[in-house]
Amino acid sequence: MDTTEFRLRGKEMVDYMCEYMDTLAARRVTPHVEPGYLRPLLPAEAPQDAETWDNIMADVESKIMPGAASPACTELETIVLDWLGKAIGLPNEFLAFSEGSKGGGVIQTSASECVLVTMLAARAQAIKRLKQQHPFVEEGILLSKLMAYCSKEAHSCVEKAAMICFVKLRILEPDDKCALRGATLRQAMEEDEAMGLIPFFVSTTLGTTSCCSFDNLQEIGPVCAKFPAVWLHVDAAYAGNAFICPELKPLLNGIHWADSFNTNLNKWMLVNFDCSTMWVRDRIRLTSALVVDPLYLQHGYSNSTIDYRHWGVPLSRRFRSLKIWFVMRSYGIKGLQAYVRHHCQLAKQFEQLVRQDNRFENDDTGASKVPVRFRHLDTMVRLNTRRESSNYSRSSASPSLSPEGQDNSCLSAKSADSSRKSADSNREIGSRSPRRSPTPQSRKD
Ligand SMILES: Cc1ncc(COP(=O)(O)O)c(C=O)c1O
Repeated sequence: MDTTEFRLRGKEMVDYMCEYMDTLAARRVTPHVEPGYLRPLLPAEAPQDAETWDNIMADVESKIMPGAASPACTELETIVLDWLGKAIGLPNEFLAFSEGSKGGGVIQTSASECVLVTMLAARAQAIKRLKQQHPFVEEGILLSKLMAYCSKEAHSCVEKAAMICFVKLRILEPDDKCALRGATLRQAMEEDEAMGLIPFFVSTTLGTTSCCSFDNLQEIGPVCAKFPAVWLHVDAAYAGNAFICPELKPLLNGIHWADSFNTNLNKWMLVNFDCSTMWVRDRIRLTSALVVDPLYLQHGYSNSTIDYRHWGVPLSRRFRSLKIWFVMRSYGIKGLQAYVRHHCQLAKQFEQLVRQDNRFENDDTGASKVPVRFRHLDTMVRLNTRRESSNYSRSSASPSLSPEGQDNSCLSAKSADSSRKSADSNREIGSRSPRRSPTPQSRKD
């Protein structure tokens, strides 16, 4: 849509809303449709080709508005999350309308919230299990035994989630490609078990924030499966959008081991903020951690329909699935694939420009985790180190570069880590001073 059409459609939308307000008195207060009405009216998959705005708006009027008071908001969310789940190649168990499935998708506000909600669910499952084995042990004591895991390259939201859930988090060292490996995880979990701790949650990342590395799900999955209480989450906050392209789907290999997966359409699929989509393999395992059912929220359809208030923290929810519906239909799968491919091409072009620029130097020896580095990195590292020591105390065990920045062996990882820390500290400056260590229980390997 170009700006001329956007101007036109925007004005039409204002007219549409005014018309709605002016005719409010003639409209029904309660809907005349029953739960489940929408699914037979919509296709089971997103269109391959772009559709016109007029087509989509006609469907808003004829299919959405009759259930606008309820249940269109819930039903469209379930339907488009199935569309999207299929388009990015999630296993059928994650789709709500797949035969025999117990799973489904939900829209959360942010990737951080997805990680938090899944950790809460995993914690509830683990405590429930332990309570069955040790009925007379206090829940607080059981909680103190739980251990979550992630890689050093994971987003800081995992630490935040552990802090909120009041559980221990072990932050593991990735390999030389910044990927968490199965053997590292297995060793850590076995060590912890031997010390009487209970592994309960592993957060992996496909497309890490600092360097777009991919944890090795195919190795990590079987390790998690050996620990029956462990919930395996996959955070693909931005890279997950790219799986819409068939040639990038191999990066999702191993997803069949996961219990939950999230990706943010507001990061790389043209949907404006907020729109973090999350899928779970077993929705009861998720909702049983979050169900509170006061009399004034009860209804007669609780056994037959999805009730998203049990899938996250908020009760009130916006109609965010409309944004996904509009974007998927107005671009079509092919249009979205073309969009992602164009960005990947731009990234390659950027890489070439950097390689040709003598302010950067190549390091294709494999010693460094990124093949190109800025020649003046030493200066940058000195600045970061200074900023870090004055503003941030994430973990005293965390390695830091010498002031001269001469430890080149894992320069990129350390500098990525420092820049992430300084980005974090920039966010936090002034809000809490001095910053307290995020999780007293966090431990770095
Ligand atoms: C891999 C990854 N996970 C989580 C997040 C946090 O995203 P949000 O701002 O949606 O909480 C980011 C943000 O950049 C990210 O890259």
